[in-house]
Amino acid sequence: MVAAPQARFVTFEGIDGAGKSTQARHLAEALRAAGHEVVLTREPGGSPGAEEIRRLLVSGAPGRWSAETECLLFTAARRDHWERTIAPALARGAWVVCDRFADSTRVYQGAAQPGLRAVVDRLHAEFIGREPDVTVVIDMDPAEALARGLARASGENRFEERGLAFQERLRTGFRALAAEFPARIRLVDGARPAAEVAAAVRALMPLP
Ligand code: TYD
Repeated sequence: MVAAPQARFVTFEGIDGAGKSTQARHLAEALRAAGHEVVLTREPGGSPGAEEIRRLLVSGAPGRWSAETECLLFTAARRDHWERTIAPALARGAWVVCDRFADSTRVYQGAAQPGLRAVVDRLHAEFIGREPDVTVVIDMDPAEALARGLARASGENRFEERGLAFQERLRTGFRALAAEFPARIRLVDGARPAAEVAAAVRALMPLP
């Protein structure tokens, strides 16, 4: 499927509680105010089938799935989300703003088990085959982000319960990914008032 010329696919990434969702919402509002059609979505989830898979992933005991099984479940959810939500939106020329995408699988499942990063890349190439146009990594100190994340009583904290050391590895992983793909991934300092972070994010967008 060939995307229409103004279609843009933007993803937000970062450790748990870094403020990605708020920033994704701010960007979607700014784009809508500028007259663009915007599909604001999230992973895991973003389509009815993928939201069902999400429930399997975010609830239950921390060791419920192996890292390998998680790679498959996240990729299955992503494929459904891609088919039903993202690809059709890009094809009609809409912007797609997505809270997490394949970089989360690269970093989270890659951090859980060395060697899985290559598996994630292979699954991505086979079943998704498209990277975002721009990826914003909201970067912040895990201690601060973890305190915020756990403060939310979402009932979805299977991942957040793994502790500060794991979040520190994730932060390192996202920073390394930004260095690996400098043309696509931009780091934005998230330890500032949300309005300042939002302005920094807007400045990164390829807006006319
Ligand atoms: P999310 O709903 O974004 O949680 P939060 O808003 O707290 O950041 O994602 C739920 C959890 O799933 C989060 O801890 C990150 C994790 N995750 C992965 O481990 N791999 C993935 O591919 C994705 C998309 C999320």
